[in-house]
Amino acid sequence: MSFPTVGVIGLGYVGSVTAASLAARGIPVIGFDRRAEVVDAMRRGLAPVDEPLLSERLARGLARGTLECRSVLDLSECGASLICVGTPVGEDGQLVTDDLFAALDSINATAPAGHVVVIRSTVPTGLYARARTHLREDLRLALNPEFLREGSAVADLEEPELVVYATEDEEAARFVEALYAPSADRLHRTDPSTAEVLKLVNNAWHALKVCFANEVARVTIPVGVDPFAVMRLLCADRKLNTSSAYLRPGMPFGGACLVKDVASIQAHAATHAVDAPLLGSILRSNDAHLRYLRDVVLEHAPKTCAIVGVGFKPGAADVRDSAPVRLVRALLDAGVHVTVADSAVLEARLPPLGLAALEAALGDPRAYAAPTVEHAIAGADVIVVGHPCEEDRRTLVDLAPSVPILDSAGELSRALSPDERASLAPVVVLARGC
Ligand SMILES: NC(=O)c1ccc[n+]([C@@H]2O[C@H](COP(=O)([O-])OP(=O)(O)OC[C@H]3O[C@@H](n4cnc5c(N)ncnc54)[C@H](O)[C@@H]3O)[C@@H](O)[C@H]2O)c1
Repeated sequence: MSFPTVGVIGLGYVGSVTAASLAARGIPVIGFDRRAEVVDAMRRGLAPVDEPLLSERLARGLARGTLECRSVLDLSECGASLICVGTPVGEDGQLVTDDLFAALDSINATAPAGHVVVIRSTVPTGLYARARTHLREDLRLALNPEFLREGSAVADLEEPELVVYATEDEEAARFVEALYAPSADRLHRTDPSTAEVLKLVNNAWHALKVCFANEVARVTIPVGVDPFAVMRLLCADRKLNTSSAYLRPGMPFGGACLVKDVASIQAHAATHAVDAPLLGSILRSNDAHLRYLRDVVLEHAPKTCAIVGVGFKPGAADVRDSAPVRLVRALLDAGVHVTVADSAVLEARLPPLGLAALEAALGDPRAYAAPTVEHAIAGADVIVVGHPCEEDRRTLVDLAPSVPILDSAGELSRALSPDERASLAPVVVLARGC
């Protein structure tokens, strides 16, 4: 693609690095910032922020004649613009988008028809729709949240692990794809709402990791354990610990180990008078999710609910501390009749497995442990996909029930063909009102 001149609006960390890097690649760039001193520095090849490689990229862009910087925001010469203005947090905790909308106003006033607007600033949810309404109809819009880190901004931008963009406009999509052609294999298109929330979730995740490691330090130091050694070993397990394992919405956690060991580390923190609010909130968060699932079921006002798969994890025959079993009890408490089906549990013979273990775990004669999925769902007003084994999941799809199905982990939906999905009644994937 031959690139139009690209306007980069805001020359702070994200904008200066973006402008210099694109210009160094040979893409014509005009950088805009309302701070004259920043524009002046960039024109003279001086990096406005202290970032490795930035001066070199600036020098290359200026030498190639592909980089210009201006303080008056006028997009009339630009076929596209990348908005990189600040979105600080306001007193109410919301991101302040005044600078962003000021940039959109300037774009509306000066950009030619067909101009592509790419918002790279971090934005609050709902911003794409608001920006779309705010922009002239002949302008195109995309979101492209930036994940770079200060201190390695150029390298992060030029060799990203992940690039995400979202747009409802195919011309805008083609422009963003061309911009990221060198990283095409890491480029992911998503919908605008996902792009908006992803950036916030990403940063919440990083913040959570920092706090987790610090709490580990606070609970290990009192007993003379080296927290650095603990975290180094934790990170050495790339299969379970630093991977996508466990990082998927679904049922609350359960089983013979997680619940008791989380309780144990909480008790350890309390014994040593360590303030560890994160560790202390894990079981509460788990319980909140169980209540959420119960409420989603209750929104369907069922007389009878069937739960398929009651092991503590998918396909497991072990029902100790199982979340689906806890959901059975929560629904019984709410006056709902519950039937359960789980071939893996029924086929297991040795205690603590098998039907006896299941009936003991359910602990209530009102909960009926059915011999098959077919028996369990007959007469149910709503079905919950808990942790089914493959066989039970297949049976459920083949039976094509005509009542709402709460697919707690999205397992069923992911495995379905469009035809199978159409044959089922509304599948509610961890969302209210779907
Ligand atoms: N700093 C980071 O590490 C980082 C990483 C990823 C994403 N982000 C996000 O990217 C956005 C930009 O962050 P930053 O750190 O580069 O901000 P920054 O405050 O360093 O820079 C913003 C620049 O925009 C200029 N500006 C604001 N409104 C303008 C307008 N209407 N016209 C012209 N110039 C204008 C300001 O003068 C300033 O120089 C924010 O939403 C931020 O959350 C930042």
